[in-house]
Amino acid sequence: MGTKWMVTGSAGFIGSRLAQQLLATGADVVGVDCLTDAYDPTEKRQRLAPLLRHPRYSHLFIDLAESDLAEALADVGGVFHLAGRPGVRDSFSMYPLYVHDNINGTVNLLASAKRAPTVRRLVYASSSSVYGDAPLPLSEDMDPKPISPYGQTKLEAERLCIGATGPTLETIALRYFTVYGPGQRPDMALRRFAQAALEGSEIEVYGDGEQTRDFTYVDDIVDATRRAMDASASGLAINVGGGSRVTVRQALNIIATVTGRQLRIVERDAARGDVRHTFADLERASEHLNFKPAVPLAEGIAAEVRWLRERSVGATG
Ligand code: NAD
Ligand code: UGA
Repeated sequence: MGTKWMVTGSAGFIGSRLAQQLLATGADVVGVDCLTDAYDPTEKRQRLAPLLRHPRYSHLFIDLAESDLAEALADVGGVFHLAGRPGVRDSFSMYPLYVHDNINGTVNLLASAKRAPTVRRLVYASSSSVYGDAPLPLSEDMDPKPISPYGQTKLEAERLCIGATGPTLETIALRYFTVYGPGQRPDMALRRFAQAALEGSEIEVYGDGEQTRDFTYVDDIVDATRRAMDASASGLAINVGGGSRVTVRQALNIIATVTGRQLRIVERDAARGDVRHTFADLERASEHLNFKPAVPLAEGIAAEVRWLRERSVGATG
């Protein structure tokens, strides 16, 4: 029998890309995603369509927080837990939904995973937002101090995962740093900026645009996530960054070059809960995962712009 993995959040931006790449290795994948309304579920259905056609993919449209997962975990060798409610800015007005998806979903999944006889390891998609505003580079040895409800729920879920480490379950929590690339979520900066550039509409920059992000290309994230399933280390958090820390304004300049468009930028108030700067210390990722980001920002943005162009041709043509 080949390997069978569970991917939670398999209709999401990162989870769908991970599921595709696992299938390409010859593995079986069981995906779990109830297509929440955190953003337009049409995008989730579009990502799911090619997965559903794959003979080694099966899907469960169930809410992780409310379903018994024992049967779903039968024969599963490991769980990639990416389901969650992402996004910093909405978390101030929708806190109960963040608790439901990020904390309750994780509690329920862990209870079943600990009892599942074949599940060896769970890899959790945590976030750089657990750090809050801390000195750079952000290192896993720091005491995390999230400044948004989203960051708090991710930290709580990460602690639950690491706390579940024991004789029947190994765990790793990966702290992803602002992920971008083809398929990116519609609420995120680079997607919104590139789409507005192509359409000639206004680009809203929150604050002065001098905040920085360690943007990380989605295939680098998938690479680190797969490595975490095979790592010997267990029961710890590990950063996954892109090594391309730039200001929001520098990212906009790259988008202007790649699209060949003049940008119409307007400044808005700074967003609540927005961390000023992020930059990952990648020493632990290098030591335990032998991970190094491979895709430079300009190359990754070009891939995302190509995807957006193809998408708009598909919609109109
Ligand atoms: P996404 O919203 O595109 O994917 C998450 C998926 O989980 C969605 O398809 C959603 O329908 C599903 N889901 C949510 N709650 C569920 C529940 N209770 N039951 C079943 N399915 C549920 O987000 P993404 O950008 O792909 O992020 C994936 C994970 O990585 C999230 O946990 C997010 O917090 C984390 N993360 C993302 C980033 C980033 O920059 N994208 C950075 C750090 C961490
Ligand atoms: C992102 C994801 O949305 C979170 O799910 C994730 O957990 C987090 O990264 C992380 O690294 O942990 P964020 O950094 O806010 O959060 O990602 P973007 O939406 O790409 O925003 C980047 C910057 O651009 C922020 O400073 C934001 O305020 C700004 N921005 C965003 C704008 O100026 N305009 C926009 O329209 C959108």
